Amino acid sequence: MRADPSGAVLPQIQEAAQRYSENARHKLAGLIYEAGPQGLPFARWMQAALYDPRTGYYAGAPLKFGDTTAAAGSALQGDFVTAPELTPWFGRALARQISPILTHLNTPHILEFGAGSGALAEHILQALLPDFPELQYFILDISPDLTQRQKQRLAPFGDRVQWLHSLPTGFTGCIIANEVLDAMPVTLFEWGEDGHVYELHVINKAVNKTDDASTETDSQANQDPAAVSHFDFLRVPANALLDQAVRARMPALPGYRSEINLQGESWVAGLGQWLDRGVALLIDYGFPAGEYYHPQRSQGTLMCHLLHHAHSQVLHFPGIQDITAHVDFTAMADAALAADLEVLGYTSQARFLLNCGLLQMLSDLDPTDTVRYTREIGPVQKLLSEAEMGELFKVLAVGKNVDMDLDGFATGDRRHRL
Ligand SMILES: C[S@@+](CC[C@H](N)C(=O)[O-])C[C@H]1O[C@@H](n2cnc3c(N)ncnc32)[C@H](O)[C@@H]1O
Repeated sequence: MRADPSGAVLPQIQEAAQRYSENARHKLAGLIYEAGPQGLPFARWMQAALYDPRTGYYAGAPLKFGDTTAAAGSALQGDFVTAPELTPWFGRALARQISPILTHLNTPHILEFGAGSGALAEHILQALLPDFPELQYFILDISPDLTQRQKQRLAPFGDRVQWLHSLPTGFTGCIIANEVLDAMPVTLFEWGEDGHVYELHVINKAVNKTDDASTETDSQANQDPAAVSHFDFLRVPANALLDQAVRARMPALPGYRSEINLQGESWVAGLGQWLDRGVALLIDYGFPAGEYYHPQRSQGTLMCHLLHHAHSQVLHFPGIQDITAHVDFTAMADAALAADLEVLGYTSQARFLLNCGLLQMLSDLDPTDTVRYTREIGPVQKLLSEAEMGELFKVLAVGKNVDMDLDGFATGDRRHRL
């Protein structure tokens, strides 16, 4: 463990990872240099920090999705754990909702975005292939490294699984995206004392300069991409689009900093264009706008994951730490409606999984086989517990040209809260 300059305690970083991060810094410093004295809008910085094909976090070889029980520093540890990595019961329960959708559509097609290690695809394929032998499972992931891993893991399913390189021009079927919206680059904003909205850009401050980067740019450091990089924020007056978007979501609160996922909103709006018929199940951590832009959440939701440590030093360790923001589900639902999609359901992950019959499925386990029972039940409790993933994670279903009730929202549908 070590303390970072802000005082946050961070884990020990191995040398190879430090080198990878140095390369990422260099790349980002170059982009800032090209952008000029006002630096890079944070969304572009985050895009490159996560997805640059050579130095981005999702391009890097180290394991991202790990095992919380692995020894600290071990290659198996990863940075964070997602529901499908925790337990196959997540995918099995989700399959219970996907199955009637495919039947209703009379088309056994699934398209998963951002499939990570391929774990969710594997669990869903195992659950559904017996009933849908013609199942076609499509995957679209912008990370070449993860796509490679998915191909290895899902090889036993042969041509049941196909990878797309770009959005389809038309699609009928069920779409799933687990923890994808939270991984999209967000626009960072701050309300000024003067009642104006500012966008946060990232600049490269010379290490020995002491002036306040949030009010003034250090153009000299910005002009030298080879200088030791020292990233900091710079406030720049928001353009009309961002200004309008912020004012539509919340009142002026001087000093309040948060984010807007414009890329996520246009991704959802895009569904309205290329989805012919079907349902998209979007699963992620987040809240409706009222909670998202609550006055007490004055520093937003942006956070990083590094070797299972969650911290808020977004500008530190680019390339080797995940950067993520919670999802504003009201914004996603509004984007869907504006794109002529229907909002078919919204509830907590726990409620959704219970509605899908997760508990009944588990009742087949033999409780007298205590070792197996504990191994299976422990991670499921994490999925369902209000204190862990059960309440913070939500499921939003949007769709087009479907006329069916979705079992996952049979009780506890919270669309009225969006
Ligand atoms: C946090 S990981 C989640 C992985 C997996 N769904 C899981 O639950 O374990 C985010 C994933 O989304 C992918 N991703 C991010 N933006 C994307 C986009 N616009 N289209 C497709 N995949 C995307 C990343 O490459 C990565 O695989």
